[in-house]
Amino acid sequence: MLEVKKAAELLLDSTFAIAFTGAGISTASGIPDFRGPQGLWKRYSPELASIDYFRKDPKGFWEFYSFRMRSLFNAEPNRAHYALAELERMGVIKYVITQNIDGLHRKAGSMRVIELHGTMLESYCTSCFKRYDSREVLKMIDRGELPPRCSCGGIIRPDVVLFGEPVKDIEYALTIAQESDAVLVVGSSLTVYPANLVPQVVKQNGGKLIIVNLEETPMDDFADLVIRGKAEEIVPAILDAVKELVSNN
Ligand code: APR
Repeated sequence: MLEVKKAAELLLDSTFAIAFTGAGISTASGIPDFRGPQGLWKRYSPELASIDYFRKDPKGFWEFYSFRMRSLFNAEPNRAHYALAELERMGVIKYVITQNIDGLHRKAGSMRVIELHGTMLESYCTSCFKRYDSREVLKMIDRGELPPRCSCGGIIRPDVVLFGEPVKDIEYALTIAQESDAVLVVGSSLTVYPANLVPQVVKQNGGKLIIVNLEETPMDDFADLVIRGKAEEIVPAILDAVKELVSNN
């Protein structure tokens, strides 16, 4: 595929390439995305993932979130996650900046991962801030403790960024974006602010914007390269093209 070879060339011509990922990189791992044809927000209201709803109805919040947590704990990284981890080991990708809360990049071996929207794998008490492994929290819920409470009596919440809350490490992520001269966007609708500033900043600073996505995004027209396809097929193909170019040099 010519586009895959072009993506490999753009990455190898860069000195500080990063990856920016969204839910589309994890759909092949069995985790639904949000705005695709089978997206979560096509079936549920995003209100369920807001800080206001958590405060108003923590029981209802956890009924929704525990269902999502269970699907995450059964998920494994797919070929796209592993390919990004290998591109990092080769020094081609310097960071993965992700909107995902599924922990699959780290599970696949990526080391430098910035989780802008937090992680579902951990939770914490809203009163004393004691941290919990979210699997322990699910066990509390299985014992009928809804909402799950800390030993201090406080309500426990997942360590994710809910709608209405500030995004984690956005300044750090944007500082890295300022340094980057290429960004490989994988599986994001690029519709959620401020996360979507990351690829914008790379492009505005003269960096290359490569988008791998099943559907159109608002940034396609500004991209140096758009590859319409499945992340789990395209990203491993880009890795193979990088390896071929490196071995031929
Ligand atoms: N390969 C490539 N692209 C895919 C695949 C796939 N296998 N599966 C889905 N996609 C595409 C969809 O077409 C969609 O355009 O991935 C994109 C995912 O977009 P969203 O569902 O909007 O997910 P994301 O961009 O990560 O959303 C950002 O919104 O709800 C909040 O906090 C949530 O982190 C999330 C944020």
